[in-house]
Order: sequence, then C-alpha cells, then structure tokens
Amino acid sequence: MGFNLEKVVPWGRSFKEYCAMFALSESDLKKSILGAGDGPASFNAELTEQGGQIISADPVYKYSTTQIRQRIDAIFDDMLVQVTANADNLRLDKFGGAKQLGNVRMQAMEIFLQDFAKGKQQGRYLDIELPNLAFTDTQFDLSLCSHFLFLYSEQLGAEFHIQAILELCRVAKEVRIFPLLDLSHQPSVHLEAVILALENKGFLANIEEVEYEFQIGATQMLRIRNMATHLRRNGGSP
Ligand SMILES: C[S@@+](CC[C@H](N)C(=O)[O-])C[C@H]1O[C@@H](n2cnc3c(N)ncnc32)[C@H](O)[C@@H]1O
Repeated sequence: MGFNLEKVVPWGRSFKEYCAMFALSESDLKKSILGAGDGPASFNAELTEQGGQIISADPVYKYSTTQIRQRIDAIFDDMLVQVTANADNLRLDKFGGAKQLGNVRMQAMEIFLQDFAKGKQQGRYLDIELPNLAFTDTQFDLSLCSHFLFLYSEQLGAEFHIQAILELCRVAKEVRIFPLLDLSHQPSVHLEAVILALENKGFLANIEEVEYEFQIGATQMLRIRNMATHLRRNGGSP
C-alpha cells in the first residue's frame, strides 16, 4: 500500500529543537545536510534562511501546501487532546503546557508551509522515502532523522530500520537519529539489532546524551560514522 496523507500526523519541530536534539554545533550547521522524514518541521526553512545547505526527503512532499495545511488543521485539536492525555510522559513544563506546545508546533509548521512551494521549486523538499534514497554515495556530510526511525518501532520492523539506516549511511558521512524511544516511551526494540548490523558493516554507532527532552527519558541520539573515516580523522583513536 502506498503512502497516504490520511495516515500522516503532521507535527513539526523547530530549528531550535533540531539543534538541541542533534547537538548541532556551528560547524555542523555549515555542512551539507539531509533531513530524512522532516515533514512539516521548520528546520529546512530556518537553516536555509541562515545560508545553510539542506535537502529534506519525505513522501509527504508529494502533496501541495494546501493539502498539507488541511491535514494539519484536521488533526491539530486531536493532537492537543492526546498530548494532554499523555502529559505524565511528556516534559510539557518546558513549553508551559499543552496549549503553548501547540502554539510552538503551529509556529514551526507555519514557517514550513510559507517556505514549502519555494523550497520545492529549489529542490530542497523532495518526495523521496526511506529505505531508498535517490542520492549518490556520501552526497551529504550529515543526515538527521527526527521522530521517525525508532519512534515507530511497532509499525516498522527491524529489517526496515536496518535497511533505512544503512541507506542513510550510504548517502551521508555521518548520521544522527533522535529519539531512541518508541511511541509507548520504551527503548526501541530494534536498537540492538540496528547497532549490530551497523558494526558488522564497519560503522561506528554511539549512543550519546543530548540537551533535549520532550518524551520523558528520551535524551539520547544515535550517532553513526564510517569507522575508517573516523579513525583517519582522529589519528587512529576511536
Ligand atoms: C512524526 S513526523 C516527524 C517530522 C519531523 N522530523 C519532526 O521531528 O518534526 C514523521 C515524518 O516521517 C515521514 N515519513 C513517513 N514514512 C517515511 C519514509 N518511508 N521515509 C521518510 N519519511 C517518512 C512522515 O511523512 C512524517 O513527516
């Protein structure tokens, strides 16, 4: 079955949140970046505004601005109800409550919606989906994947995760994925299999703490580098 807008829950995060989730430094922001599954996040729009180089890949980009806006409007109130019902598992205090979180998400999605048509024309938003990315090997310095891989561990199996992450490693020199918890706020059941598969292929996969927490306990990202490149840069030390 193909990708269907009715199944998407558009809920975009901001540039500030991406920087915190992925521990992005000033020099990271100068790299050529692939955002996998960026959806209606404002990271692409805001980074581009600052002169950064980014392409976002997401099947939702096959739809128009109007269609994505309609979908956002259709689910927004329900998302706030779900957030409120789930409050015990979320750091809503960081936003000042569910309503304020909704405002932050809506602001980010509005920035995305304002940028989408122009960005699509410029080739910054591509209707491409994991696990097959139509990019050349190491086309990007860095690939980021926020709130897609590992989060949907119940819906997407270990094989999908392994294929998708190996594909991200093919097209980018470094990959960072956040969060490592699933939608039930449990550590992803696929994490161990993914790390093993990556190590077998010669990648270095590290779990690192970051200065971001929204789902309670989701404070870690997975950073993956090519072992040979990494050792060369560090004079042989891991
Ligand atoms: C929960 S949203 C996260 C959006 C954004 N990354 C953020 O953190 O604000 C998940 C996104 O994954 C996208 N997605 C679903 N299947 C995908 C696939 N096979 N490859 C890439 N993205 C996909 C959805 O369209 C949606 O935009």
